[in-house]
Amino acid sequence: MPELVSTVVPVITVDGPSGVGKGTVTRALVRRLGWHRLDSGALYRLLALAAVARGLSLDDVAAVAGLAAELDIRFGERADGSECILLDGNDVTRQVREERTGGLASQIASAGVVRQALMDRQRAFRQAPGLIADGRDMGTVVFPDAVLKLFLDASPQARAERRLAQLSEQGTPAILADLCAEIEARDRRDRGRAVAPLKPAEDAVTIDTTQLTPDQVMDGIDVLLTARAVR
Ligand code: DC
Repeated sequence: MPELVSTVVPVITVDGPSGVGKGTVTRALVRRLGWHRLDSGALYRLLALAAVARGLSLDDVAAVAGLAAELDIRFGERADGSECILLDGNDVTRQVREERTGGLASQIASAGVVRQALMDRQRAFRQAPGLIADGRDMGTVVFPDAVLKLFLDASPQARAERRLAQLSEQGTPAILADLCAEIEARDRRDRGRAVAPLKPAEDAVTIDTTQLTPDQVMDGIDVLLTARAVR
């Protein structure tokens, strides 16, 4: 009998609230496994930026959703390894990562019609040899058949401190209390929305990273990868 080989492209999902370190974990997994990456938050951010650039009201969710299919989005890397994001041919890397853009993304993300409009675009990232997808509903909605579902969590204070350190490295001044308030507001909206709220999938492994270094988080994930024979 010939051996049956699964042709399904494997997916690992990394969900969690903003500033919890999903990007760090996802990039480490991409390096380790050589799989593709979907940064789904960047898609919501890009859609919000495009809507604002076209003068749409973010409350007009049907118009915003209509934009989703026509956006020309390119994710790339510069020579020094840093990310580069093009929207309709324009370099928007810096704008995409601004706190304000995160807030706008969270706002449009509460509309079911917008989430549905981005669904096919997200699933199109599933290509051999595998995909690491990070966001809020990767394990619950977009890739429910993922081979490993991770849910990262940390206190709002710890996440705000990490964000402050990141911003000061980039030379951007910020105030800890403001960052903490923004993170808490975004948490409330992302966890409280009716469609695809932020929550761990039933079969997700939750890791509280509040007291852990990135290396300690990766050590825990390595154990899970070995246990599930993901390589
Ligand atoms: O991960 P991020 O901070 O780049 O995401 C920005 C916003 O986009 C976040 O506050 C909520 C929304 N989002 C979402 O609703 N679902 C996803 N899968 C990813 C992001």
